[in-house]
Amino acid sequence: MPSTTGLIVILFFVLCLGATPLDSYILELVVEPMYEISKNGFSSLSHVFSNLSSTKWLVIFNPTAFLVSIRWEKIFNAGIWTLAIYFSIKAIRFLKSFFFDPINRVRLLGDVGYVEELGSGNLDGCQKKAALVAAVMKRRKTGDVPPVYPNGWFSLLESRDLKCGDARSVSCLGKNIAVFRAEDGRAHALHAYCPHMGANLAVGGVVKKNCLECPFHGWQFRGDDGKCVHVPYCEDKHITEQAKVESYCILERNGFIMMWHHAEGCDPLWEPPIIEELENKSWRYGGRSEHIINAHIEEIPENGADVAHLGQVHGPIMTAGIDLARTQNKWWSFTRHDWAGCWNQNPDPELKHVGILDLHHKLILFGKHFPVLDLKVQAQQIGPGLVHLMFDSPMFGKGAYIQTLTPIEPLVQRVVHHIYVNNFFPTIVAKFFLFAEALMVERDIMIWNNKQYISKPLFLKSKEDSLIGRHRRWYSQFYSEHSPRLDTSSVKMDW
Ligand SMILES: *[C@@H]1O[C@H](CO)[C@@H](O)[C@H](O)[C@H]1NC(C)=O
Ligand SMILES: *[C@@H]1O[C@H](CO)[C@@H](O)[C@H](O)[C@H]1NC(C)=O
Repeated sequence: MPSTTGLIVILFFVLCLGATPLDSYILELVVEPMYEISKNGFSSLSHVFSNLSSTKWLVIFNPTAFLVSIRWEKIFNAGIWTLAIYFSIKAIRFLKSFFFDPINRVRLLGDVGYVEELGSGNLDGCQKKAALVAAVMKRRKTGDVPPVYPNGWFSLLESRDLKCGDARSVSCLGKNIAVFRAEDGRAHALHAYCPHMGANLAVGGVVKKNCLECPFHGWQFRGDDGKCVHVPYCEDKHITEQAKVESYCILERNGFIMMWHHAEGCDPLWEPPIIEELENKSWRYGGRSEHIINAHIEEIPENGADVAHLGQVHGPIMTAGIDLARTQNKWWSFTRHDWAGCWNQNPDPELKHVGILDLHHKLILFGKHFPVLDLKVQAQQIGPGLVHLMFDSPMFGKGAYIQTLTPIEPLVQRVVHHIYVNNFFPTIVAKFFLFAEALMVERDIMIWNNKQYISKPLFLKSKEDSLIGRHRRWYSQFYSEHSPRLDTSSVKMDW
């Protein structure tokens, strides 16, 4: 399939034919000889060409005569038409993607949330970013942080990124994992390195039925249990028990492939809930955002119980931007977001891994409140790595954000949001919602990337501060005796 640009160039030349003597001869030069050849075969070719009138040949092969005969105004018209068609296609594509295609906002480590420092003027953009991230990481006191990988379900990949027969290498929770989708459509996650010679199964490995074949010597590992079931140069009976890789417990739900992690090796204690409206496809996907954050993993859900930061960080209207030093800009003071929030642990002992945040958002414009723009949100923190945020807007109805949080390394987290909306919800509004959420997250990132974890915060007597204390007590259930701790002596000093 040629590109649009290719088609447009072809169109231009076709339109230009009309400006040359070629158009009137096309019949004689192309159509008639073809007809002749089809009738009498290629032997008639020389005859056909010798029969063409010499004047016509002259015009075509004589540059002067050719140029004289060109009608330049027709070429000009061809150009105008081509450009008009080209820009119409562009505009239609842009409008279609603007209004109907899902949004995809990605901000990696260093893209947002850092403040440029003095003295970095002679580095280029990329070096500056890396130097800045490294400097902030190095200088910041890590503090007495809780264990770095809590127990729970963590997203490895988004379902859409793993087609049947795909294998991908994923690095998270200090592990390298080969995730693949077998031919029957089920996803599997294996320890990435082949026990034979150490090749990474997901880099060049090929999916064969329900196995992943090592790219190095063709050993095949079964997705279900990681056992090696076939070696091309060795009889099956010689394959030993040791010929296996660890197979991780995963579950595919609501568009994410999630892995169970428990430091004590326990089987899953709970499962991420199914969102009915996604399962029965009555809600539609509106897009995603992805952010890489440099902070301890607990800082991110802790925000849910931190109602005092809502007014401070998220109060200024979104158009005031993401640089917290500028959001309180007086030009935007005529309008603001008003948030009322309350966090609670789920009282059901079966669901003690669930925290519930009720939020009510109001838009205040010139001191007035417009109820149609309200948004009621209920966020369920389901363990340490998943949040289901259900919202209800008086104008457009219901939808949900799904937030997954995955520790890539001890103090580096990946946060992915997906938005789903009901069918009456215009896609453009869903995209705007996701964009607005991303901007709000980016304001938080400026705090997270630069803060230190304080194990004993200076809480003052207030409802707001005591809620954070409650959240910390709730969250401590995700740490257990052998939860991996940060070995401060080996914290990477280079980035
Ligand atoms: C050759 O030209 C003559 C006269 O122009 C025409 O009658 C004849 O059909 C042509 N033959 C072929 C094979 O095109
Ligand atoms: C999908 O599930 C939701 C929630 O249970 C329900 O309200 C809705 O009617 C279902 N839609 C379809 C098409 O089954």
